[in-house]
Amino acid sequence: MVRTGGVLKMAAMISTFILAIYLAFHLLEIRVDFRQGSMMSRSVSIKDGSKPVGHKCGLSKACPVGQFAFKMASGAASVVGPKMCLEDKMLMSAVKNNVGRGLNIALVNGRTGELNKTDFFDMWAGNVAPLIQFLKEIEEGTVVMMASFDDPATKLNNEARKLIADLGSSAVNNLGFRDNWIFVGGKGIKTKSPFEQHIKNKADTNKFEGWPEVLEMEGCIPRRED
Ligand SMILES: *[C@@H]1O[C@H](CO)[C@@H](O)[C@H](O)[C@H]1NC(C)=O
Repeated sequence: MVRTGGVLKMAAMISTFILAIYLAFHLLEIRVDFRQGSMMSRSVSIKDGSKPVGHKCGLSKACPVGQFAFKMASGAASVVGPKMCLEDKMLMSAVKNNVGRGLNIALVNGRTGELNKTDFFDMWAGNVAPLIQFLKEIEEGTVVMMASFDDPATKLNNEARKLIADLGSSAVNNLGFRDNWIFVGGKGIKTKSPFEQHIKNKADTNKFEGWPEVLEMEGCIPRRED
């Protein structure tokens, strides 16, 4: 009994270790891409304004005037945190040390594109009440960016899901244990947001043992004019 337990524990430790190394490499690559994106656009703006080569946040094409460029990624398993970039500024990332297990949320002023605040809510071991409080206090006209890390859903109850659905999410009602999810919505939005990706945690489709693949999304958010 004791020996079997020890062997299993050792096997689990080794596979966790291998997963961590794999993810570290996988995500360093993504991080390098992000960096190159912002470096390119910076060096372009220094040079005398000919055609830009790179775009804000490393987007594949420039956003129309009056729209905010964003790029984001969910967390990778329980190892590397999510990322959110807006208008070439990294709002949340492991490097910035402002992400955590559960739901990661950035609030942005929909008129100016300025960051209002960021926070994260542990939906595995935490309590849903602070998340509900946070969601209720969001002001009209705020752009809300959300990204999962590890487990975004276990503690989510109907009240929290309703508040997130009201920001324009279609997937939140179906969000489950260790699903990956990225979303951009808005307080006072009248429709469902086009900026949402969701992948279920399913043993037969998971990329990592126990977690689905990392989700990435980029796009342009229309500025509020009213
Ligand atoms: C965030 O938004 C609230 C509500 O509009 C406002 O009172 C606060 O000053 C804002 N904070 C920042 C840092 O913009």
